[in-house]
Amino acid sequence: MSVSDYLKRYRLKPHLPRHVAIIMDGNGRWAKKRHLPRIAGHRAGALSIREIVRVSGQLGLSALTLYAFSTENWKRPRQEVSLLMKLLRQYLRSEVQELLQNNVRLGAIGNTKDLSGEIQEELEKAIQITSRCTGLNLILALSYSGRTDLTNAVKEIAKKVKSGKIKPEGIKEETITKALSTGALPEVDLLIRTSGEMRVSNFLLWELAYSEFYVTKTLWPDFRTPHFIAALRDFQKRQRRFGGVESVIGSVTSWAR
Ligand code: FPP
Repeated sequence: MSVSDYLKRYRLKPHLPRHVAIIMDGNGRWAKKRHLPRIAGHRAGALSIREIVRVSGQLGLSALTLYAFSTENWKRPRQEVSLLMKLLRQYLRSEVQELLQNNVRLGAIGNTKDLSGEIQEELEKAIQITSRCTGLNLILALSYSGRTDLTNAVKEIAKKVKSGKIKPEGIKEETITKALSTGALPEVDLLIRTSGEMRVSNFLLWELAYSEFYVTKTLWPDFRTPHFIAALRDFQKRQRRFGGVESVIGSVTSWAR
């Protein structure tokens, strides 16, 4: 089936976001409601990831960035961190074929050096295996902190200034955008946060400047295709002005493919 077939199936208009970012929240509450251990919520959350990645590919989105593990998440009880890491490793192992089949190219942002050697290897392997895929770019934010990413960008730019490659007055917004770990990706058009919390939680701080926000009470493990389509439909109703007065809805600006 082609992208336009899927657009018809899901009753969506053609102007979709190019880049969607998601704060996947509520796994713990989902498990608690069912009197299950927290890890059961994370496991169910991994199934939501699989489904949302598949639909994003079908709809021809260019990038999907998922907040899988923040630098703050290391502060969770040791057992939960270790089970989350085990789940990540399983995900990387078991999903590679699915990603390949769906032409999805995997990438990662964050302090991936904080991950265990085994997970780093698994991640590298999955990135390598899917590197020739030309469809959706799936970016996992792992041990990610928006402030750290900005700090690293500043350091990189400062080095270039020191070596005379650029002048301080030559630093533009674009210089910073490009120096971030997301520098090669399109602008984030839509940020989705599940479980109803109204926070950015140190995610993509610079990149969210003009993003549309969609917050739903649905907990991440319950967030499946119909919920994602609802978020995309909502996005399609928004009047994006990028700080100006003229709406650009329906026009071919930043989010048209
Ligand atoms: C928040 O739920 C979710 C996370 C800690 C990150 C998302 C992790 C997954 C979806 C697990 C699988 C990930 C991969 C990449 C295989 P929470 O525990 O904060 O929920 P709560 O706020 O209800 O306690």
